[in-house]
Amino acid sequence: MKILIILGHPDPGSLNSAIAHAIRDDLMNDGNEVIFHDLYEEGFPPLLDAGEIPESGKIEHVIETHCNELASVHVIVIVHPNWWGQPPAILKGWIDRVFRPGIAYKFVEGDKGEGIPVGLLNASTAVVINTSNTPVEREQTVFGDPLESIWRRCIFDLCGVKNFHRRMFSMVVTSTTEQRINWIEESKLLCRAALQDAAHNNSLHSDRNSAALRSSR
Ligand SMILES: Cc1cc2nc3c(=O)[nH]c(=O)nc-3n(C[C@H](O)[C@H](O)[C@H](O)COP(=O)(O)O)c2cc1C
Repeated sequence: MKILIILGHPDPGSLNSAIAHAIRDDLMNDGNEVIFHDLYEEGFPPLLDAGEIPESGKIEHVIETHCNELASVHVIVIVHPNWWGQPPAILKGWIDRVFRPGIAYKFVEGDKGEGIPVGLLNASTAVVINTSNTPVEREQTVFGDPLESIWRRCIFDLCGVKNFHRRMFSMVVTSTTEQRINWIEESKLLCRAALQDAAHNNSLHSDRNSAALRSSR
């Protein structure tokens, strides 16, 4: 299985970094093909400029590479802290520049952009892992858990990724080492379960393709 992991955190010693690296190692040890990006470490350029907004716009080589990777994988894993109910700006920039029209979504023919977009991503499954310092119940009742809507509905569902798994680990600031180790283990298990989902989805997809081929003969 081909998997893309994106880490959005500036501190290599953070819990987020530990989670993302543990997932990467676990999935690689299992024989998967893993593409891993630590956006801060790589100095990802997050600012979308006017020229690249149209589908036919000119895009930099680094963005083209990210777009090709996003379009090619079966599973997408995103790891980041809750910053004001949003992803860190560098990750927001990655979304703006990489989830492009023609790559992640398109509008139906004749639609100038006012209609409902059609998702284009090949990935059937996404995993989002967040950390925060707000108790889960307060995050949901007071703030409405904006990261759930952003990732599940505004991004992955819109771009055609139907299986969505997410965990928010809290509260990091008062957590014990044992709790953080458990969260890392839980993240690995969540990704393994997501991969099973994706494998199931891929086999349904290839069954459907074989049936279509048989009936067209
Ligand atoms: C700029 C910034 C904004 C933050 N906003 C929130 C927030 O809205 N809600 C929250 O629970 N925690 C917030 N936090 C706390 C982080 O979520 C927390 O430090 C992080 O999840 C801990 O994980 P780490 O050790 O990997 O950094 C914020 C932290 C920073 C630096």
